[in-house]
Amino acid sequence: MNDGVTAKLKNDAGDHINHSYNGARFMEKEMIIVLDFGGQYNQLIARRVRECNVYAEVHPYTMSLDKIKEMNPKGIIFTGGPNSVYDPASPTYTKEILEAGIPILGICYGAQLMAFLAGGQVKTAPVSEYGRTETFIDAIDEEDGVLGQVSLSSSLLFENIKPTINTWMSHTDYIAELPEGFHATAHTNDCPIAAMENEEKNLYAVQFHPEVMHSEQGQDILRNFVYNICKCAGDWQMASFVETTVEALRKKIGKGKVLCALSGGVDSSVAAVLLAKAVGKQLTCVFVDHGLLRKDEGDEVEAVFGPEGNYDLNFIRVNAQERFYLKLAGETDPERKRKIIGEEFIRVFEEEAKKIGAVDFLAQGTIYPDVIESGLGKSAVIKSHHNVGGLPDYVDFKEIVEPLRMLFKDEVRKAGLELGIPEYLVFRQPFPGPGLGVRIVDDITIDKVRIVQDADAIFREEIDKAVKEGKIKNPPNQYFAALSNMRSVGVMGDFRTYDYAVVLRAVCTSDFMTADCTEIPFDVLQKCMNRIINEVKGVNRVMWDLTSKPPGTIELL
Ligand code: XMP
Repeated sequence: MNDGVTAKLKNDAGDHINHSYNGARFMEKEMIIVLDFGGQYNQLIARRVRECNVYAEVHPYTMSLDKIKEMNPKGIIFTGGPNSVYDPASPTYTKEILEAGIPILGICYGAQLMAFLAGGQVKTAPVSEYGRTETFIDAIDEEDGVLGQVSLSSSLLFENIKPTINTWMSHTDYIAELPEGFHATAHTNDCPIAAMENEEKNLYAVQFHPEVMHSEQGQDILRNFVYNICKCAGDWQMASFVETTVEALRKKIGKGKVLCALSGGVDSSVAAVLLAKAVGKQLTCVFVDHGLLRKDEGDEVEAVFGPEGNYDLNFIRVNAQERFYLKLAGETDPERKRKIIGEEFIRVFEEEAKKIGAVDFLAQGTIYPDVIESGLGKSAVIKSHHNVGGLPDYVDFKEIVEPLRMLFKDEVRKAGLELGIPEYLVFRQPFPGPGLGVRIVDDITIDKVRIVQDADAIFREEIDKAVKEGKIKNPPNQYFAALSNMRSVGVMGDFRTYDYAVVLRAVCTSDFMTADCTEIPFDVLQKCMNRIINEVKGVNRVMWDLTSKPPGTIELL
């Protein structure tokens, strides 16, 4: 237990722990609430709204109407979801929400739910629509509804939208009958009500997914919702985020001491610099080398943040490799591995805190997708990110400060640039907290760590070279080597080998929620294969991971 700090914080659902969002809530800011009905694009909706400079938060559909009103949102978006509104077991909401005087946009399932709650009829559609679908915006003015490329629909939602747009559809049900007070504002060949609205009550609905890139002018439609209908002014900007967060952190931390978990990755680096700006030398950055870092990474991080580096920080490097290897020995289960690494991290920090004495706050670089993907909302748990779900039940700090907890990755990068962090750090490819622990399938040994470090260094070097030479059309956002648990027979020289297979993975992704395998020229891959097998002892096979996300994830574990 910390000197003088006795509070133990419970963390079984994330909610009990005393997480601090940005040091301050954004209640005073304009906010759109994205009410999550279990669809796959829910985070994306929030990101797209924020790209319109309006702050958005995702909340589960179980959030009460009173709580929503308390948050005073400028608007609400009902997300999509996999269910049918007429199934009594499906997620629903009190119909009073439609009378709360808050503008609402329903998307896909959210559109059907709005129709259902308002007394319309939703049925299984005679023809399901999946993928790109031509959608016709219905001009209200029958005479000359189309002017040039712009629809003259009187709908505020479709202002400056072309009369025909390609939209992304994914539905088996549809709105069969409009509720009273609504009229249809768009249709497709198979869906007579592809959009509807009740202007008087500020209720709008679209059957398609405007948040998805494949929906033409989707971003414009969302912008119309937040500006034309919710009357937002657009006060969400990174410059003001940095300013207000620094201010809020100062207020919260006062004269207290903060320990920041610094990994050298983008998120924790931005969090550290933000905190340093707020509280200067009250901050100590602890960098734990858990022995699962990339090759030479420990020294690189020390070079930037250590005493010889770019910042005036208290910096402590803890070489804890052996301790982590011992804890992980023989463990093969991916989630257990994540939890062990997460827990050990915290223990190391607690010990460092004791040494420093009277540390009240633990700071982490958790970002919004970590929070959502760790299942703190209502979506299914995919993985326990070590910096959220991987925390042990009891954490021996008064409070956890996560200044980036509500930011998406691209927003973190913008904040980093605002803070003057060098571009090469800000645009580094992400590296997961549990490090190579989630890139080594099955148990972790020192030898496997060496193999994956060496193979990864070669692969990154060759990819960076190929990118510089312009050989890769769409350079990957994340690329690395991982180690499979497969051993197979090979022949090297005149000898039989029975060695490991390395997996190479490179993905293009804009949000890390979905990803596609990057097209790498064959000669580049071949060179990587040759070098890895020749230079890395213990490897006799190299595999190329073609899997997209979904169905795969970016990391192997
Ligand atoms: P997945 O594997 O879930 O990864 O598709 C999505 C992105 O998140 C990174 N990742 C993590 N980041 N702590 C982190 O800070 C973690 O535990 C963690 N696990 C995955 C991953 O590298 C990718 O960029």
